[in-house]
Amino acid sequence: MSAWNPNSETAKQKSTMELMDQYVVPTYRRFPLVFQRGRGVELWDEAGKRYLDLGGGIAVNALGHANPEIVQTIQDQASKLIHISNLYYQRPQAELAAAIVGETGPGKVFFCNSGAEANEALFKLARRYGHEAGRFEIITATGSFHGRTLAGIAACGQEKVRQNFGPITPGFRYVPLNDFEALKAAWSPSTAAVLIEGIQGEGGIHPATPEYLKQVREWTRQQQALFLMDSVQCGFYRTGKFQSYQRLLEGAEGADDFLPDAIGMAKSLGAGFPMGAVWIHRQYSDILGPGTHGTTFGGTPLACAVALKTMEIVKRDQLDQNARDLGQWLKEQLSQLCGQYSRILKEVRGIGLMLGVELQEKIPALTGEGIVPSLKATELMSDAGLILIPSGTHTLRFLPPLNLKQDEAAEALIIFESVLKGIS
Ligand SMILES: Cc1ncc(COP(=O)(O)O)c(C=O)c1O
Repeated sequence: MSAWNPNSETAKQKSTMELMDQYVVPTYRRFPLVFQRGRGVELWDEAGKRYLDLGGGIAVNALGHANPEIVQTIQDQASKLIHISNLYYQRPQAELAAAIVGETGPGKVFFCNSGAEANEALFKLARRYGHEAGRFEIITATGSFHGRTLAGIAACGQEKVRQNFGPITPGFRYVPLNDFEALKAAWSPSTAAVLIEGIQGEGGIHPATPEYLKQVREWTRQQQALFLMDSVQCGFYRTGKFQSYQRLLEGAEGADDFLPDAIGMAKSLGAGFPMGAVWIHRQYSDILGPGTHGTTFGGTPLACAVALKTMEIVKRDQLDQNARDLGQWLKEQLSQLCGQYSRILKEVRGIGLMLGVELQEKIPALTGEGIVPSLKATELMSDAGLILIPSGTHTLRFLPPLNLKQDEAAEALIIFESVLKGIS
């Protein structure tokens, strides 16, 4: 086979889609969209068509596309130091760790590159914690999603991600979210930890209730087990607070004293730059000592500088408040549309800028061979110029940048409604 020459005539004739289909492993069923550039919430494809991106790269692009300050930060830091490994000290990592601790609670931070890796560190923390007592089991929630590593798929409360990958990593059990009795019933002497998402994302936008969070906190404390939270999708100010439980528990009794034992983070943390982190409570933050865990790339000066800048911008521009206020407005507007188009839309769920609209069970226009309604609806939305993210078979997610403006949200709603009109 001859070497690939991007300037050859055959290369020029091949479309991006053809090339990707030919050379990229098909782990994703891609939409037929080829994006070329973006600015804020706007995106343009290769043909120059404009879209509004309210999917945010699946809750990643906290500040939208090509944010000038992030671009500048990348340029500045890259020209000083991109990578040095975790064998050495460096300022951006030190400052970012301190910032995450400041936003969460007393403890320390482990840096990695993705959500799956953050959760992998949580699993290892729990195993190491329970090791001497022979405890290793982690209880997670039905419908949860925790990543695609072998332990990650074992942790997911979704059978479909495990199919044909056996033998599955042992030591995980699943109980329905918000059902405390079920959690107690599933408990065993081997249980070392509970892991839940504050708001299930891939599972279709299902928040944990404040009562459940408090019950799990109390129970795990009594049982001397760890309470772990996966904030990969619902964290980083998306709900209006740095951590989703801070928002979910707002106003609840004891909220100020509530802290999980460890939290996995990623996605928006790097505003598009790959980055993951695990906050671990002071009590447990030295369990993963030298030689127990690590990663070459985790917490590079470049990734940390970007995350720090992103946090600084969120604070300075009060984007947490924006997520809260605009999210509330968007939810109200979507609820109204649910009422108006009740034959298509069932309900809207979520908090802040993490919203999900569930479609009705059977809609002829969205029922096709080999395609579930959420995918079909997402396709129709993108044809109309609005990017949303499907979740499961019937939910459309809104996970926009935290700096989304009201007129942009309003424009997105006009497109959304025009598609609903077309469907009905
Ligand atoms: C809650 C949650 N945890 C973990 C992950 C895995 O993150 P990553 O894809 O960065 O490995 C995801 C990704 O969607 C997620 O939503």
